[in-house]
Amino acid sequence: MTAPLLACSGLTVRFGGLTALDGLDIAVDRGTTIGLVGPNGSGKTTFFNVLTGLYRPSAGKAALAEADIFAKSPQAIGRAGVARTFQRCRLMLDQSVFDNIALGALRHQDLGLAAIFRRRRLRAEIDALVERVRSIAARFNPAIAAALFEPAGRFTMIDRRRIEICRALIANPRLLLLDEPSAGMTPEETRRLMDDLLDFRRESPDLALILVEHEMDVIRRVSDRCVVLNFGRKIFEGSFEALIEDRDVQTAYLGSGH
Ligand SMILES: Nc1ncnc2c1ncn2[C@@H]1O[C@H](COP(=O)(O)OP(=O)(O)O)[C@@H](O)[C@H]1O
Ligand SMILES: [Mg+2]
Repeated sequence: MTAPLLACSGLTVRFGGLTALDGLDIAVDRGTTIGLVGPNGSGKTTFFNVLTGLYRPSAGKAALAEADIFAKSPQAIGRAGVARTFQRCRLMLDQSVFDNIALGALRHQDLGLAAIFRRRRLRAEIDALVERVRSIAARFNPAIAAALFEPAGRFTMIDRRRIEICRALIANPRLLLLDEPSAGMTPEETRRLMDDLLDFRRESPDLALILVEHEMDVIRRVSDRCVVLNFGRKIFEGSFEALIEDRDVQTAYLGSGH
C-alpha cells in the first residue's frame, strides 16, 4: 500500500466566528479525479485556498506525498506539485497567450521575472519556453498554439479556460485543482472542455484532479469519486450513483422536507 498523494485530516478554516471548513478528512490517490460539490458557501473554494497556501488552517493537517503542505510557502507548494485554476477568470486579457501561460512555469521560481530576462542564455531559454507553451496549448487547441502572441482577451470563453488550465499544467503538477471550470460557458463548451481534460488525463495517468463543479453531468462524466460539502462539513463521499440517491445530499440541495 502506498500513501495517497494528498491526505487531509481534520482540516478546519475559521474566519472569525464562521467555520468555512470544518474538520475535513479527504484522501486523493494518484491518477484519480474527485468531484467536489456542495451548495454555494459550503467551503469548496476555501479548501483550495488553504491547500495552495493562500489561507492558513485553523486546525488539521494536509500532506502531499507524505510531506506537510502547511510547512511550505505558496511558492513551495506550487513547486511540490499543486496547481489550480480560479473560479473567476484570472487571465491578463491584454497580455499575450504566451505571457499568461508562461507565468505558470515561472511563478514558482525564486528568481523574479526580471532576473530571468537578464540571464546570459536568454535566447535559448526563451525559445525553449515558447516551445513548451506552444506544445501544451496545442494539446488543448491548435488554434491557440498558432496565435501565442495574440492577447488572451481575443479568445472565446472556452479558449480562455483552456489557457488558464494550460497555465496550471505547464508546471507539471501532481495535483490539479479546478474551481468551477464551466462557469460562464454553454453546456456544449463545457462538454468540449471536459473532452480536452479527459484526453489530457489519458496521457498523464498519474495526475490527480479535484474538480469543483455544479454541473452534475460533468461530475458524472469525469469523477472517480464524489465528495459533498455542506456548511464546511463533508456530508457524503462515494460514487456518483450513490450521491444522487443520498438523502443528506438531497436535503442539502433542496432544503428539508424533500
Ligand atoms: N476570506 C474570507 N473571509 C471571510 N469569510 C470567507 C472568506 N472566504 C470565504 N469565506 C466564507 O466561507 C464560506 C465558504 O466560502 P467558499 O469556500 O467560497 O464557498 P464555496 O466555494 O463552496 O461557494 C462562506 O460563508 C464565505 O462567505
Ligand atoms: Mg467557490
